[in-house]
Amino acid sequence: MKKILVTGSVGQIGSELVPVLREKYGSKNVVATVHKTMPSQEFLKSGPYEKVDTNNKEELVNVLKKYNIDTVFHMVGILSAVGEKKPDLAWKVNMESLKHVLDLAKEMKLKVFWPSSIAAFGPNTPKKETPQLTIMDPNTMYGITKYSGELLCNYYFQKYGVDVRSVRYPGIISWKTPPGGGTTDYAVAVFYEALKNKKYTFFVKKDTILPMMYMPDAIKAAIDIMESPIEKIKIRLSYNLAAISFSAEELAKEVKKYIPDLKYDFIPDERQKIADSWPASIDDSNARKDWNWKHKYGLAEMTKDMISNLKRELRK
Ligand code: SER
Repeated sequence: MKKILVTGSVGQIGSELVPVLREKYGSKNVVATVHKTMPSQEFLKSGPYEKVDTNNKEELVNVLKKYNIDTVFHMVGILSAVGEKKPDLAWKVNMESLKHVLDLAKEMKLKVFWPSSIAAFGPNTPKKETPQLTIMDPNTMYGITKYSGELLCNYYFQKYGVDVRSVRYPGIISWKTPPGGGTTDYAVAVFYEALKNKKYTFFVKKDTILPMMYMPDAIKAAIDIMESPIEKIKIRLSYNLAAISFSAEELAKEVKKYIPDLKYDFIPDERQKIADSWPASIDDSNARKDWNWKHKYGLAEMTKDMISNLKRELRK
């Protein structure tokens, strides 16, 4: 990983991955691509960036050649809730761009990280401690693109030897960039609303349990798997990855410890159905065994860190 390209660098994960990669590998060695949404001036000044539509293979080729890129973190993606509203767009953005990246990885011998998700599972997947290899019947367009993407990554590895590595991310909680249009967004929104308005209405039922992860752990997973020696990577579909599982109500109670007058209720909307089709907890023993995955943040540590960072940010 000497010259890195990050697509989707304005997104929830990309915007936090880029600074960490720049710190680790040198600012000039990490090229961020932007498309429609322009990032902050601070972000733009922190290192090289290029305007690239990842659905346009030519634009991708040009930037890969220009910077002599050897590694791509392909973070572009339309999330689950938006994907249900715009399924054609989700298929196009999530699948076509991945196919381009894999084809170029084959031609140019690039190493690739691509995030899958718990959304690759479906209503018939075992809900508790979901195994690595299990029933996969996603029923959202986002989940379908994630599972199809996993199959495609595995195919490019088996057939062409493309070194593409992947994890199935749970819901990601972070304070720098809010998520855009996912089902697990409530786990971030509750912090903003609690600090700003002291009230929040969850759009899922109080006993909805989903696997979640704090952003620093999510970034660590991406870097750890990419840094691992090739012989340690035994799964080329996508590794199950886990940190914490909690119900919406458990999260609300944890946040209330810091904001005692927080009022909350639960009014499920169409996203409940999506949440119900996903696992409640994940068996990630393969990742722990193969490339030594460890998470750091539990519910209490994550909540404490979220509150102190967001409090400071919202004061600005
Ligand atoms: N956080 C994502 C979503 O809710 C799941 O990968 O769509």
